[in-house]
Amino acid sequence: MAGTKGKRDRVILAYSGGLDTSVMVHWIQEKYDLDVITFTVDLGQGEDIEAIRQKALNTGAVEAIALDAKNLFVDCFVWPALMAGAIYEGKYPLATALGRPLIAKLMVDAARQHNAKAVAHGCTGKGNDQVRFDMTFQTLAPDLRIIAPVREWKMTRDEEIAFAIERNIPVNISKDNLFSIDQNIWGRSCEAGVLEDPWIEPPPETFAWTKDVAHTPNDPAYVVIDFDKGIPVGLDNKKMDGVELISNLNKLAGEHGIGRIDHVENRLVGIKSRELYEAPAGVVLHFAHREMESLTMSKQAQRFKSIVSQEYADLIYNGQWFSAFHQDLAQFVVSSQRFVSGQVRMKLFKGSASVVGRKSENSLYSKNLATYEKGDQFDHDAAKGFIRLWGLSQQTQAQLQLLKGGKGFELPGILTDKSNNK
Ligand code: ARG
Repeated sequence: MAGTKGKRDRVILAYSGGLDTSVMVHWIQEKYDLDVITFTVDLGQGEDIEAIRQKALNTGAVEAIALDAKNLFVDCFVWPALMAGAIYEGKYPLATALGRPLIAKLMVDAARQHNAKAVAHGCTGKGNDQVRFDMTFQTLAPDLRIIAPVREWKMTRDEEIAFAIERNIPVNISKDNLFSIDQNIWGRSCEAGVLEDPWIEPPPETFAWTKDVAHTPNDPAYVVIDFDKGIPVGLDNKKMDGVELISNLNKLAGEHGIGRIDHVENRLVGIKSRELYEAPAGVVLHFAHREMESLTMSKQAQRFKSIVSQEYADLIYNGQWFSAFHQDLAQFVVSSQRFVSGQVRMKLFKGSASVVGRKSENSLYSKNLATYEKGDQFDHDAAKGFIRLWGLSQQTQAQLQLLKGGKGFELPGILTDKSNNK
């Protein structure tokens, strides 16, 4: 290999250091006759990327790049998704889905820098991640050839291990191989193995970030989250950057068993799959953020925002981060957050987070209007006229149609239609 170094075209390979991507370093060189430059990004997955870089070089990469993109990930991907309230199918805070477009974008940058002609990733041919990678490559750099070895090589696990052993690639079958795992600072995704049976309760080995409630503290923890225009900026009155804030909250909420999500989800490629997520900070922050909005946003804005949240979650899940539609939705979201500042107080206890307080300088909550005590300023007399007009069309329809000729009001529901019941 050394003799050909630098002479061949190059490919940028997304490299995690696991068996698949290590085998790829060799497979791509042999099959495509390309020099492999590996690319490893720290998105807060808690691995030593310098060690992974060394491993890549030992495995035969001509160059190995390792980048810390944690801040970029939080500021430009996680916070926008949080502000948007983006949770896929009401459950999944989208950690993996948010990481992919960033990794792919950074790979395109690296390809330009190193004059590479191709990019490669280790996604399978039946998941969502291949879509997110390929969509990003195809959108930002349609000239780059995309290589997806796992999608192409069609090796069984045993064949892959044999391939690795023949080429002296270290193979360690550890407990991690029980599942397929992806993690970054926003969450941990765990699937396959026994989890493929949606009836089976996840065994303890499934979880790494959250305690079983059987072992969580018997006293609750309280945490105050500071928001500035929809973005979390501090915990317990201490300002901190996003990475620090999420890391602290992952630990604290995980310690109380918060953030486990068991999701049978609808993949973009048409199948249902079962994934176990852990997102302690994600769960607490989405909850707190909605509470901040409930205090500071109008009813109409909140309703409309919930539609936007769903669209936003879908576009993230479906690989459309780099779209004009996303830019447009993001403008709306940012604008919608201009009064979403203040504090939310959360209680963390035995696997669940609850809100116990909220306050804001932009609060729309008026004690004088809401109170049942002294100082009530709500105009009770105005209610009477309001209801007369609010109910006018319903009253009219009842008289002219529903109750016409002395009929009684027919209750909706299956019990009222006896005639079909013979
Ligand atoms: N189902 C999630 C998604 O499509 C996570 C995919 C990766 N999961 C994994 N365990 N490797 O975003």
